[in-house]
Amino acid sequence: MSNSTHGVERAVHGALDYGELERLNLRPWEVLDFSVNANPYGPSPRVREAVANAAIDRYPDRECLELRRAIIDYEVAAGSLPLGSIVCGNGAAELIWAIARAYLKPGLKTAIIGPTFGEYRVASLTAGATVVEFQAQATEGFQLDIAAVTACIRREQPSLVWLCNPNNPTGTWLGRQDVLELAETCQRTGAMFVVDEAYCCADEPLMPTSRRATTLSSSAAK
Ligand SMILES: Cc1ncc(COP(=O)(O)O)c(C=O)c1O
Repeated sequence: MSNSTHGVERAVHGALDYGELERLNLRPWEVLDFSVNANPYGPSPRVREAVANAAIDRYPDRECLELRRAIIDYEVAAGSLPLGSIVCGNGAAELIWAIARAYLKPGLKTAIIGPTFGEYRVASLTAGATVVEFQAQATEGFQLDIAAVTACIRREQPSLVWLCNPNNPTGTWLGRQDVLELAETCQRTGAMFVVDEAYCCADEPLMPTSRRATTLSSSAAK
């Protein structure tokens, strides 16, 4: 497969390259893959049961109605959300690309709070946007200086800000107060705020869903 999309270098993360393993004369189970974050115990029995009972002899509901209703029921504690506020994708990566396609275009700027997951940059550049990246420092244990991040957002005036929380690959995470401060800054500067909570294991997501914020929640595999 080509390593670039529209001239933008692909983000390489997760999963083994079986062609590479063949060339190295290795088998997949002989390699410890530190680039994935999957449950070593496998999926829950309830997930196995749901998959086994899924009707694979017909196309699924393209509007994912049942799933979106279940998500709304689960999220009720976070306030009353309209059904239309939930969008389902085949994994968070598909949604990251869909957001970039829907909200970015040439002439727009996006801000990434890094170092972080590579798909935000590639999806944004492929949509034609320019990217500015705030860099947390290794010497600070990659802890974010929220005042510096908000100053960067105010200075750069991006149309969209990507936050990965908890962050991949640094493992740092922002508490609710810090996330709300970033959300407020984005609201004041007119930026859409995208929070990727793929690794949020808490029962309660850190980011309350609001009009100008988009939250990406975890997939069943993680
Ligand atoms: C931070 C982050 N967001 C999104 C994704 C993509 O998740 P999915 O497998 O649900 O597409 C990953 C996958 O590694 C990730 O690390």
